[in-house]
Amino acid sequence: MESRRGTRYGRTMTRITLRRPDDMHLHLRDGAMLQAVLPESARHFARAIVMPNLVPPVVTGAEAAAYRDRILAALPEGMRFDPLMTLYLTEATDPEDVAAAAASGLVKAVKLYPAGATTNSQSGVRDFDKVRGVLERMAGIGLPLCVHGEVSDPAVDIFDREAVFIDRVLDPIRRATPGLRVVMEHITTREGVDYVRSGSGDLGGTITTHHLVINRNHILAGGIRPHYYCLPVAKRETHRLALRAAAVSGDPRFFLGTDSAPHPDHLKEHACGCAGCFTATNTMSVLAHVFEEEGALDRLEAFTSANGAAFYRLAPNGGTITLEKRGSAAVWPDKITGGAGPVTVFNPGFPVYWHVTT
Ligand code: NCD
Ligand code: ZN
Repeated sequence: MESRRGTRYGRTMTRITLRRPDDMHLHLRDGAMLQAVLPESARHFARAIVMPNLVPPVVTGAEAAAYRDRILAALPEGMRFDPLMTLYLTEATDPEDVAAAAASGLVKAVKLYPAGATTNSQSGVRDFDKVRGVLERMAGIGLPLCVHGEVSDPAVDIFDREAVFIDRVLDPIRRATPGLRVVMEHITTREGVDYVRSGSGDLGGTITTHHLVINRNHILAGGIRPHYYCLPVAKRETHRLALRAAAVSGDPRFFLGTDSAPHPDHLKEHACGCAGCFTATNTMSVLAHVFEEEGALDRLEAFTSANGAAFYRLAPNGGTITLEKRGSAAVWPDKITGGAGPVTVFNPGFPVYWHVTT
């Protein structure tokens, strides 16, 4: 219970110290963009599950090792951060390479993108029978499969793609591969929440910061707002409320994966804008606001710092992070700048009084 370490004035908690958090779904990119966004995560997070959807994707253990080296080389002096690497599952992935990368401790998960579902998913899986051997090997060694849970069938309405994926793809895969540990990533629907709840220890679900804050009206009502467009796209309000209930429940199956996904502004503010919300900078402050609204500040630590580590069978982080509620709103830059061009920071649309102090 955080109240043990929190400070209460009267009935209101204004200070909370958490175990240093983990971001169990993060896009760091490469090159100049990596350089620009890495400090935004490393400032607050000890570790992150790093997505492999580079161009070209991170497919082999050797590619993951080289990417990890580039991430560590981009880390500013004095900052500590442990990138937890993933492999991008293709129809040609070699089960033995996956097993060796896992055994060495380098790779913590394999990522399944249905081909065509989202940014850089062209090399993803079309025929799920072709990856059966890899999935069975993963089940045997307990290596989790992270799943982008949307069908890419153009006949399926974009707001239904997650629910349809559960029935058409995810549930059949899980039934056909007993013992496979799965993370349903960035769930956006009540159906996703219910499905994760239907699993026992072998199924987890990540929830993003932005999906706890926005629904589809934020994207589409009163003007189109490209910086709120991400995939899976935010759904109607009832789904946001289901996500909130799951996130603040303390249920160990749900944990934070920000899906912070930077794109330069000129590609977001575009006739065919890229999907992705960039939330690394202010995630912890926004989450404290959300959990306080839900009367669940005492469960923030489970969501950000305990449940995900437990699912991935990692030791909890040693350090702490402290958030303080102040009279003035927290400020952060509107945009992160760097060689890759400006990246707009997620605007929750309300003032946030929780400041990360240490
Ligand atoms: C991600 C990206 O930009 O890489 N975009 C997004 O909208 N979340 C890809 C993804 O996780 O779907
Ligand atoms: Zn993502």
